Parts: sequence; C-alpha cells; structure tokens
Amino acid sequence: MANGISPDFLEELKRKNDIVDVASKYITLNRRGANYWACCPFHNEKTPSFSIKQDGQFFKCFGCGESGNVITFVMKMENVDFLTAVELLCKNVGLEMPSEADNDEMRKRKRERERMYAVLKSTTEFYHNNLINHPNTPQAKYLSNRGINKNMIDKFQIGISLNYDDLIKYLTKQGFTPQEMISAGVAGRNDKNLYDFYGGRVMFPIFNGFGDVVAFSGRSVEANPDRTKYKNTSQTPIFNKSEILFGYNFVRDLKKEHSLDTIVIVEGHIDVIMCHQSGITNTIGCMGTALTAQHANNIKRLVDNVILCLDGDNAGASATYKAINTLKEVGLNVKVLRLTDAKDPDEYLKKFGKDAFYELLSNAQDCIDFVLIDSSKKYNMNSNNDKTSYLNEALNYISKFSTPAEQEVYLSLVQKIVKIPIDALRNSLRMQSSEDKHIKKEPDREIELGNNQALIQSKIALLASILYKKYTNIDEIAGIFTADDELSELYKFFVERIKENKEFNSSTLFDNFEITNNSLIDQVINYKFPSDDVYDNFVKETINTVKIYELTQEKDDLTKQMLAIQDIDKQRELLKKIGQLDKELIRRKSGNR
Ligand code: UTP
Ligand code: MN
Repeated sequence: MANGISPDFLEELKRKNDIVDVASKYITLNRRGANYWACCPFHNEKTPSFSIKQDGQFFKCFGCGESGNVITFVMKMENVDFLTAVELLCKNVGLEMPSEADNDEMRKRKRERERMYAVLKSTTEFYHNNLINHPNTPQAKYLSNRGINKNMIDKFQIGISLNYDDLIKYLTKQGFTPQEMISAGVAGRNDKNLYDFYGGRVMFPIFNGFGDVVAFSGRSVEANPDRTKYKNTSQTPIFNKSEILFGYNFVRDLKKEHSLDTIVIVEGHIDVIMCHQSGITNTIGCMGTALTAQHANNIKRLVDNVILCLDGDNAGASATYKAINTLKEVGLNVKVLRLTDAKDPDEYLKKFGKDAFYELLSNAQDCIDFVLIDSSKKYNMNSNNDKTSYLNEALNYISKFSTPAEQEVYLSLVQKIVKIPIDALRNSLRMQSSEDKHIKKEPDREIELGNNQALIQSKIALLASILYKKYTNIDEIAGIFTADDELSELYKFFVERIKENKEFNSSTLFDNFEITNNSLIDQVINYKFPSDDVYDNFVKETINTVKIYELTQEKDDLTKQMLAIQDIDKQRELLKKIGQLDKELIRRKSGNR
C-alpha cells in the first residue's frame, strides 16, 4: 500500500475504467488484431507506435518507451499525481474515493492541499467582490482604463485588493488559520501581524488545467511602480510556474468542444485577456517566464500548431529564439509573429484593432524561415567570415528541425541570403547532419550480462508465463528466484498474490513497480511467447536453461575450491561431486531428461 490505496480497490477501479474507453477520450484508437494503436500522445510521431493491449489493460509506446496502466495514462495525460488520477477515475465511474487512502501522511497532505485550494477560492471571491462593490477605486479604474470589459472580468475572475487588512479579516472569519493563508501564498507575516501579500493591487487569479485557482499575479496600479510591477505567488505544492500557463484552462475547454487547432502564445496577463476579449480565445500566456519543456508538453497535449507572439522588445526577441527550440523539441509546428508597431499584443489591438491583428496572426511566419532570415541580419554577407558563421548557424538549425523535403525549401531560402550555389549548401548540410549524429551517438553500452543473458531471458520468460497465466507451478521454480534483483522481487510479488488468491495482471504491476522502458519487468510484460503448440515444451526448455546455468555455477565454484585446497582427500571428494554435476549437465544439455 505504498500509495495509500488497497490493491483490491485499485483492481476494482481499473476493472471499471477500461483503458481502451479511457484512452479513447483523449486519442483516436485504431483496432488492429487484439491490440489498439494510435500516434503516441507522449511524443511526436507520424506513424502509430503507441499500443494498448486490452486484455492486459496496459499501454506501451514502442517509439518513446512510455508504458503504464490506465492510472499512469491519466497521470501523464492530465499531468497529475497518482492520487489525483485515482480520484479522476473514481469520478469517471461513480466510485467513492476509498477511505483507506487516508493513511496519516496521505490524509495530512491531502487536507493541506484541499485547504490551499479553499483559501485561494475564498480569496478569489473576496477580491472579485471588492471589484464589483468598489467601482470608483483607483484599482477598479485601472482595469477600465486598460479597456478590460465586464465579460473578461467574469471569465478571468479578476479582482482587486484595496488594502493590507481586509482579506486577512475575511479569511479569518471563514475559519482559515494564519498558516493556511501563508502556505497558500496570499498572506505575509510582519512581526506578529498578518497582511494581504498583494495589498492594493489588481488581482489576476492563475488557474490550473481544471480551472481551480492555484496562484495569483497582482499588478501594481502605479504608473511607474517603484515596487515590482507584478507580484506573483511563488512555488507551492499546488503551483509550479514551470508547468502552468495563464489561460490554459480556457483553451483546454475549447479542445473539449473540438474547436481548437492552434494555440497563440503571448507574454503578459493583459495580452491574454485582451486577445480573449477580441475573440482570439485560443490564447495563453507564459507570464513573462521562459517556456519550459513541461509547458511545451502541456501545449502539445492539446494541439500541434502554435503561434508565438511575444513582446516586440529585445527581451521578447531572445525569448522567441529560446521558445522556438523548446516548442520544436516536443514536435510542435511553430509560427512566429514579431510585432514591430506595438510593444505587445495588447497595445497592438488597441492601436490597430482586432481585424489587423487577425491578419497578422494568419500571416505569421514559419519559425525556421524566421530564424534563417532574422539571424542573418546580424551578419555582413559581404564578409566571408560572417557568411561562414551564418551558414554554420543556419544549417545547424535546418538539420535539427526539418525533414529532408523541408530542407530543400529552407536551403533555397539560405541560398538567397548567402548567394552560394545550392549544391554546395546541400553538401555542407549533409556533412553537418553526419557530424550531429556523431556527437549525439552515445558510446555503445556493452551489455554487461554476458553469460547471464540466457539465464535472465529464461527468468523473464518464466515470469511472463506466470503473469499471463500460462504456468502455475510456482513452487517448482522458487529456487531460481533467490537473487537480490528486480525479477526476484516480481516473483515474490506473484507468490504473494497467488497465495492470497488475489487477481493480478500487467496493469497491476504498474501500481507496484517502477517500470521504465526496457527494464526487466517491462520485458516481462511485453514478452513475445512462441505459439501455443510448442508452449509446454517451451516452459520445460526454459527451466532446463536455468538449471544448466545453476549447475555450471556450482561446478565452477567447486572447481575453484578444489584447486585452492591442499588436502588430497577433500580434493577427491570435491572431484567426485564435480563428476556428478558434469553427468547431470551432459544429460540436461543433450535433452535426455
Ligand atoms: P510586461 O512588463 O510586458 O507586462 O511583462 P504587461 O503584462 O505587458 O504589463 P502591462 O501591460 O504593463 O500591465 C509581461 C509579463 O511578465 C510578467 C507578468 O506575467 C506580465 O504579464 N511580469 C512582468 C512579472 O511577473 N513581474 C514583473 O514585474 C513584470
Ligand atoms: Mn507586455
């Protein structure tokens, strides 16, 4: 019960949540034979290598190696922890979350998180009501001056803090403790006194993917704030800024309505809000931080296409270059829109209107075109030195991010910039690509197993036979699983399950073991059996292989002992034993047993 939930309950939960049903809510599955196939939702691919075995209730991607059961699938898709995934699956089939999930530690952690969500929810309501009830305050006026309308104030649950005390009084009355307010990030402590961490600011709640408030950004209403312009919640157990994107929850809702094809990424809160207000509801914001791989993966989960429209300044330009890499690396198609006549989308919309902005978005530039053209501007193409530097940079980009067909297109663009014959460029690209491969290639890791390889393969085969109920005589092979390794752990697990008369299958293993791609247990789960007619013989052969290995080991040990001692009688005794082992070995090897 490492995860705090009984195996019986997990089995029931998984029985009711068929992995094929659950997965098909997220991805399109095609049946082929006994299995279902899809393009992997966890990495970028064009041909399906993601498979679900319905009888084993598990998935495995032969491309990226991810594997798991329905619970791990939901964890990865929804980007949530184990307990949350279990909770979602309970909801899905109308099961109560089991009370035994509440071991002390778990109960404490769960309650802390629940209280955190509750504090943030009450705080959001409080700030929002402030705004509704105090329309003549500088904070409220700030919002109307920025042109944010009532609909957006409701949609984004925008609010205002008027001072440093009211929130604390309100939350105290609601029954929250000082510690709870501080942990949630809404209160600070000054000597003995608590104060509203965002005192006097305009408040933007930050939502997680489900639409729960997990943090705040508070904007100062001073024109030139000497204090920070935006004050943000720092890391808490429910808020990780390298995962969360502003507006992601709304865009996710669009996805559910099947009306999402592209996501527009902007920098600021106000940019997001003004885009939504202009009908560009597929916009999210990175809140002024660099995009992380985690952000990119969350985006890739919803769409294949993004348009990057960061601020027009130099910081925005260098952020654009970095973001392109991060987004391309998860396989997104990236377009870039650099604003020249306005500092950010908000200002652009105000100056030129939404039609002009739509126009810009629909003409956004392919990101590699952007990089090839934009990066050429810092070089003087009349200097050979500069030309070479540029070519290095450009070809590196092309080889990293494009298919051979695309490469031709990009090369002809580079040709126009550097005015070098395209054949020469093709050659350089080819050289660059092979250099890349050379660098990327990891030194071949020699499989250490050596002679053990046959033994390990046999153990894997036996465990797979137990897992898939092809072999039940578990005591017969007990002697084989004595080593201190994963496979013996797995064997012990099976023995316990069988003795307690408890159901198990592949999907059970994912709840009890850390299973990485190609690990021994992964190989057990994905074991390819020979056809049924040779099966009986196959088990016998397998056990025989193991016995031969054991006998050989024993013989080697005895031989070493014999050579090490002086006492002739003892040597004779050992020799006799070795002889017996030899006979046994010959018998087994000849198949005469
Ligand atoms: P900007 O400075 O471009 O802010 O930072 P903005 O949203 O355009 O602000 P306005 O229009 O002046 O009100 C972009 C984003 O960077 C983050 C915020 O998320 C902001 O929306 N940021 C900026 C901070 O977190 N802290 C800061 O002090 C400044
Ligand atoms: Mn801005």
